[in-house]
Amino acid sequence: MTVGPSPFRVLAIETSCDETAAAVVDDGCTVISSVVSSQVDLHARYGGVVPELASRAHVELIVPIVTEALEAAGLDRRGRPLTAGAAVPEGPAVRAVAATIGPGLVGSLLVGTSVAKSLAMAWGVPFVGVNHLEGHLYACLLEKPDLELPVVVLLVSGGHTMLIEMEGPGSYRVLGRTRDDATGEAFDKVARYLDLGYPGGPAIDRVAGEGDPRAVSFPRAWLDGSLDFSFSGLKTAVVNHVRAHPDVSTPDVAASFQEAVVDVLVSKAFRAAEDVGARGVCLAGGVAANSLLRARAQRAGKDAGLPVYLPSRAMCTDNAAMIGAAGYFSLMRHGPSGWGTGVDAGMGFEAAADRLAG
Ligand code: KG4
Ligand code: ZN
Repeated sequence: MTVGPSPFRVLAIETSCDETAAAVVDDGCTVISSVVSSQVDLHARYGGVVPELASRAHVELIVPIVTEALEAAGLDRRGRPLTAGAAVPEGPAVRAVAATIGPGLVGSLLVGTSVAKSLAMAWGVPFVGVNHLEGHLYACLLEKPDLELPVVVLLVSGGHTMLIEMEGPGSYRVLGRTRDDATGEAFDKVARYLDLGYPGGPAIDRVAGEGDPRAVSFPRAWLDGSLDFSFSGLKTAVVNHVRAHPDVSTPDVAASFQEAVVDVLVSKAFRAAEDVGARGVCLAGGVAANSLLRARAQRAGKDAGLPVYLPSRAMCTDNAAMIGAAGYFSLMRHGPSGWGTGVDAGMGFEAAADRLAG
């Protein structure tokens, strides 16, 4: 028997890149189910995501993945509770469907958005389009709903690198961003150059463990006085160093590169937190799974007497639970997205602009 007001249940879909994901989230903060199918093996032999293959895989996977997420939440294919007796959680029917509408690969975004709209229309519930970057910010809140705000979120993914002050759901201020490559992109490109395979971030993370981070002193782009980042010079420095020293140890290069990246990320995140008087620092995005980044952020937090929140690795990388959380709060504040809402491959964080503070 359900006691108290019934939660607002959202089905969320994420297909912006190479993960097909669906989740059921209650009241924007309780994950009832979350299913992620990674296409990493499909793209590995090409050394990166092949957009057309990604879209085709989403078409094949989306219905099975959505069905799995619904079933794990005790729901049938109409988004309604399964009949009693099933060994599944009890709960209400789905009341809205959310999907990532950008940024990402256009063909991939179209799959999730079209399926989400169709389900919303068939079930007679609202559709809500979600900015993928805004979704990443909810990793922290989903796993620690009592987080003291405001926090500075270091969002480091394959496509973006940003420092964002988050005062609460829907209230954000961009403090810094990359001027060229995203952090994950730098990891992926350096890994490809070092023949470490794809995806590059986890490969460098692994190999760096066997290397000496002080072996090569790579440059750090501090961009004095700014909270922006730049990684393209570091990437070029790695290439130049390896060309000049063909016998250099790959683990040493990987470790020294990772050290340079993490050094700048952590310093700037804590400077940002001090500047705005934040109550904590959160990591988000795929690169937040990096072991050195997690360890250094924790140490810096201890030194600064500031809480640091590290989402689980599964919550750092792309998933639909974060889209469900962002979708719920967007729906509560701004209402449903129109049925004519399209996808936007290059959608900036400012597309959540009506929600940007200051
Ligand atoms: O957030 P995400 O899953 O997808 C985007 O929205 O981009 O991030 C993917 C990025 C890739 O560049 C991947 O190499 C990087 O996150 N990544 C890592 C690690 N795990 C994933 N980078 C460094 N260390 C890791 N352990
Ligand atoms: Zn992402």
